[in-house]
Amino acid sequence: MSRIAFVNGRYVPQAKAQVHVEDRGYQFADGVYEVAFVLGGRMVDEPGHLARLSRSLEALAMAMPMTEAALGAVLRETIARNRLVDGIVYVQINRGVAPRAHAFPKGPLRPSIVVTVKLMPVPRDADTWAGVAVVTLPDLRWKRVDVKTVGLLANCMAKQAAAEARAYEAWMVDDQGLVTEGASTNAWIVDGEGRTVTRPLGPDILPGITRDVVLRLARAHGVPVIERAFTVVEAKAAREAFLTSTTSFVRPVISIDGQTIGNGATGSVTRKLLGLYLDHARGAGLAAA
Ligand code: PDD
Repeated sequence: MSRIAFVNGRYVPQAKAQVHVEDRGYQFADGVYEVAFVLGGRMVDEPGHLARLSRSLEALAMAMPMTEAALGAVLRETIARNRLVDGIVYVQINRGVAPRAHAFPKGPLRPSIVVTVKLMPVPRDADTWAGVAVVTLPDLRWKRVDVKTVGLLANCMAKQAAAEARAYEAWMVDDQGLVTEGASTNAWIVDGEGRTVTRPLGPDILPGITRDVVLRLARAHGVPVIERAFTVVEAKAAREAFLTSTTSFVRPVISIDGQTIGNGATGSVTRKLLGLYLDHARGAGLAAA
């Protein structure tokens, strides 16, 4: 079955979907996006994704083109029209179409909206979600990566470097030698005392929805967590490491720059958090977290 996309108010076959050549998203990366997981046909953490989308738009002085409730309905309709069971739903909102000029166009501009879906694998349990390798490299991004914009070239370059090193992810490192986050994931370690550590929110990381849910699940289930930045040296000596995102869930990291983490297998804290997160994603766990 060919896929259906929602484009500026209409549901169209994705192969025929088109955007304007002077769309500011295309010319300036002047747009924001969200990716939500769809599990069993149902969006995971829909309110969190919609709220973050609103915050991203606000940070760029772009108007939300429809209410969060209406957008939620469009996302669900796109999922339904594609008969998507397990996968992701992607939404991108750009400032709109205008003759190319850097400053925001004066007067009202109709934002462009595109919604698409894609099939994605789902981990059944911790045993089928293999640990992955990570490489580290300098964080070359701009200073507002808490805004989920489509300006992802530095992230793409980092991911490409990881792919060339046969790694799953690149952990980006700031000028102080502290890990910020992955190219498309948040970064975590478990220290020598068994405490789970992840960088606090700020302009230098994306406020991951998965990160937020995992923090809440950890606290609710007595797993000690600290929000502080950690160095690459510390990460390589960590008892466990893992990463989180909408599509990675909680994914064990078993090597960093070729150095084995712990005993090279999924650690007990990571296993527990993945289990809790899977239950949550399937509809149990924290209600509306
Ligand atoms: N990536 N950090 C970055 C830079 C990201 O792009 C993402 C998400 C995350 C994790 O956020 P969340 O838990 O809300 O997915 C962290 C999405 C999935 C993507 O670009 O495909």
